[in-house]
Amino acid sequence: MKKAIIIGASTGIGRETAIQLAQQGYEIGICARRKELLEQLQSEIQGTCHIMSMDISETEEAREKLASLINSMGGVDMIILNAGIGIPNADWKGEEKIININVTGFASLANFSFEYFRTIGKGCIAGVSSIAGLRGGSISTAYCASKAFVSNYMEGLRCKAAKENLDITVTDIIPGFVDTPMTEKQTRTFWSASAKKAAGQLISAVVSGKSKGYVTKRWVLVATIMKVMPLWLLSKI
Ligand SMILES: NC(=O)c1ccc[n+]([C@@H]2O[C@H](COP(=O)([O-])OP(=O)(O)OC[C@H]3O[C@@H](n4cnc5c(N)ncnc54)[C@H](OP(=O)(O)O)[C@@H]3O)[C@@H](O)[C@H]2O)c1
Repeated sequence: MKKAIIIGASTGIGRETAIQLAQQGYEIGICARRKELLEQLQSEIQGTCHIMSMDISETEEAREKLASLINSMGGVDMIILNAGIGIPNADWKGEEKIININVTGFASLANFSFEYFRTIGKGCIAGVSSIAGLRGGSISTAYCASKAFVSNYMEGLRCKAAKENLDITVTDIIPGFVDTPMTEKQTRTFWSASAKKAAGQLISAVVSGKSKGYVTKRWVLVATIMKVMPLWLLSKI
């Protein structure tokens, strides 16, 4: 049986990903800070579901907890690093929080996951970045920068796997807007996908070993435009 861990599985895209992987026969491990939501999800899932509450910004503790979860599952094939926060118009305290979770927390577990799969000889890692990571943004300065970090870090891991001839696939998931608690207060959204649809496309990108998975696929169009957008226009968004 295939086994997967989803970090950031209490709500939104991660929760749906956990449900769909379990439906596909995976034994799953789910992580997030809110234990009661993880327990609720565990009770809804048919099949084996392990839970581990963790705050990924507490990096040493989170790495130990991930190791312990992997151990109690008897090893895993896939780790999905989905946990993240966004705070529009954040002050420094908010920006620091974003960096601690989306950058430091993400990197500490991505590093751990890569080294784990190196030890066992193969595996799949997915990191959830964002279309927002393609360029800077005035409303979500730290968030955009944090997601650029995620995408670049994942590319680095992909290069490392290729250079060392390791059987580790690294997939950068790049969502546009998805209807989740993160976006529920945002008014200027478009082409918003359901979390269910986003999770389905995320899983198919990871399982097929893609380097990048735009979610949903039509966001490739927006990405292409964003990459060449002049600063005067970017500043108006
Ligand atoms: N929704 C969108 O439009 C959109 C677009 C592009 C990218 N994304 C990315 O997609 C990912 C999932 O977001 P979502 O939209 O599904 O939002 P969400 O429903 O708010 O989910 C975020 C998940 O991350 C977990 N998390 C947050 N901080 C954490 C921490 N310190 N330690 C452990 N877990 C933590 C949350 O659980 P707890 O709060 O229980 O810890 C929750 O399970 C994020 O990385 C986000 O940046 C979302």
